[in-house]
Amino acid sequence: MTTRFTLKIYCIIFIITIGGLMFSFQYLYKRSVSKGALAFLFIIFIAGCSEITTAKTATSVNPESQQKSLLPVLDVYKTPTCGCCQKWIDHIDDSGFQSIVHNRVDLTSLKMDMGIAPRYRSCHTAISTEGYIFEGHVPAKFIQQFLAEAPKNALGLSVPAMPVGTPGMEMGERFMPYQVLLLKPDGLSEVYAMVNSYKEQF
Ligand code: CU
Ligand code: CU
Repeated sequence: MTTRFTLKIYCIIFIITIGGLMFSFQYLYKRSVSKGALAFLFIIFIAGCSEITTAKTATSVNPESQQKSLLPVLDVYKTPTCGCCQKWIDHIDDSGFQSIVHNRVDLTSLKMDMGIAPRYRSCHTAISTEGYIFEGHVPAKFIQQFLAEAPKNALGLSVPAMPVGTPGMEMGERFMPYQVLLLKPDGLSEVYAMVNSYKEQF
């Protein structure tokens, strides 16, 4: 709105300046600028200016929200006071996901309903639109890899507990190697990825 307004002001100033210049030219050199030429220039400037304003209007149809709606969505369930959960949410939001945060005082029943056995649990549970589970501080990279080609007969991924150095669990230079587990509907799991260094997570 303000940009369009400023542009219009500039256009008007520009047209007035050109007009003024033409009249001074006539006055100084006693030569007349034909009315046709005047009209022609006027039309060109009007057309040019309105093109600028329409172009601006076209691109300002909130491109950010349009782009956002194309990002894969993750519903994240966490407790209201969980700090590391929020840091992990920031990590996935920065890595091409759109998170919808749900604060719950108790997450046990949700984890039970989703079939996440206690040994696979962590502080938060994320669920994709397809219904896949991403439990704990799973790096966005592995979620993307999983969603690109979801293995058959899998519930999702988990990084049980909260290994130090995972996204959202940064503590200086400290890093604890960990496994990303592939959760199965029968309660068993497989190693989906072994992460040995901080760098391998991105
Ligand atoms: Cu955590
Ligand atoms: Cu968490």
